[in-house]
Amino acid sequence: MTDGRHACYAPDGRAAAEAEFTVRYPAYLTTPAVDELRAADYARLDRLGHVYLDYTGGGLYAEGQVRRHHDLLAENVFGNPHSQNPTSLAMTHLVEQARAYVLAFFNADPDEYTVVFTANASGALKLVGESYPFTPGSRYALAYDNHNSVNGIREFARARGATVRYLPVELPDLRLPESKVLAALDDAGPGAHHLFAYPAQSNFSGVQHPLAWVEAAHARGWDVLLDCAAFAPTNRLDLRQVQPDFVPLSFYKIFGYPTGVGALLARRSTLAKLRRPWFAGGTITIASVQGDGWHSLIPGEAGFEDGTVNYLNLPAVEIGLRHVAALGIEVIHARVAALTAWLLDAMSGLRHANGAPVVQIYGPVEPVARGGTIAFTVRDPGGVDFDFRRVEAAAAERKISLRTGCFCNPGDGEVAHHVQPQEMAHFFDGPAPGSFYEFYDLLHTATGKTPSTIRVSLGIASNFADVYRFMAFLATFRDRRAAELPWAAAPTLEAVLQRDAA
Ligand SMILES: Cc1ncc(COP(=O)(O)O)c(C=O)c1O
Repeated sequence: MTDGRHACYAPDGRAAAEAEFTVRYPAYLTTPAVDELRAADYARLDRLGHVYLDYTGGGLYAEGQVRRHHDLLAENVFGNPHSQNPTSLAMTHLVEQARAYVLAFFNADPDEYTVVFTANASGALKLVGESYPFTPGSRYALAYDNHNSVNGIREFARARGATVRYLPVELPDLRLPESKVLAALDDAGPGAHHLFAYPAQSNFSGVQHPLAWVEAAHARGWDVLLDCAAFAPTNRLDLRQVQPDFVPLSFYKIFGYPTGVGALLARRSTLAKLRRPWFAGGTITIASVQGDGWHSLIPGEAGFEDGTVNYLNLPAVEIGLRHVAALGIEVIHARVAALTAWLLDAMSGLRHANGAPVVQIYGPVEPVARGGTIAFTVRDPGGVDFDFRRVEAAAAERKISLRTGCFCNPGDGEVAHHVQPQEMAHFFDGPAPGSFYEFYDLLHTATGKTPSTIRVSLGIASNFADVYRFMAFLATFRDRRAAELPWAAAPTLEAVLQRDAA
């Protein structure tokens, strides 16, 4: 670990720090293409002085992506697809081209996989949840560190009498012991459908679970839902190497633009098992009012795309994926891995004068089998956490975009903050708290625990200056008392802009 005890990360020390960083993490030197791209296509970051550290919340778009999409729309006439008129045919062609390119990007065999376009990853997950053939003999096994949109499938499973089983992550790294995963997968009987759901990368801790669990589950008769929403933006997902049944994604997390489009990558054979609970325009061969019946288009993707797809935006999905492919997902991965390793080391090394750590990281501190998402709190010399709202407000003053809260990942948060089942169960007996903040305050008052976390995450346009400026920010908390810095609201955008203009 670097001796970061006394480092203050002053602006004039950055060049030397970067030189030292590249000696320790030489893979970074293989990624100059990102610097060129950032100067050309993400110039707004540096022009406006932003440090963007919320790529797991949403990726950033290249200016060229937006221009290419705009030009396509400006130079063509497109109508609603799936008709025989020329404007419709032109659109159908581009929609199907985008669908084919999504498969190509993830190296999926089109005979084995199909792409269902959805509004986002949550929409993809809901399709699986509402249509999966859960019965009283079924199991739904899921990791603690799933996103809430995966947790929500438990409600469909339970409603159909299936047994829901959570697999807890364990401290200190918030990983899932493999022996417990395999034991759970062994514990399922024949004659019913079983679904195992886990994130390829936790959007809270950055933990990357083994992709080999997909085949381990298949070998035991389970279907597998591998949530790649947080994994795909900075890691290669090769669907000839690993073959989950369902892969939900949100495209804006990979390349920023457009929002409002996600996908369910689905194995055709497993998709054929799903049964939609309703029908909609576009999902049926026929439906009748007088005959009171309907025939669905299942098993193809069309049976899952309700109504009109977000057709004008689908060419922008292909533009975005081509943009990532041109840069190279391996290049993005190598850069994010190097910056994350440095950041983990710098954050862990930062100390108060009394030797106490300034940062408590939740998740692996070693840069192994983890992605570029780091969850943490900032602690004072007495071991008391600074109010996360104060940290967020101070970051906002410096135009640093980070995220606070639970990131829709309550399982990781509860384990990280030692929250016990009975402490949470209590909130579901009576009236619901009005907001997350109210819940936070109630739990904090009752137990002294802080169920809120701060998260930084790296992505396609990250560079060393970003992480260095972030460390300079963290260093300002050194030797300060949490009680001196109580809750503060984040400055408004107007206030930040006015300060900049002054
Ligand atoms: C791991 C993971 N799964 C699912 C989702 C849901 O994505 P969306 O909100 O785009 O539906 C997210 C969003 O943060 C996520 O990180």
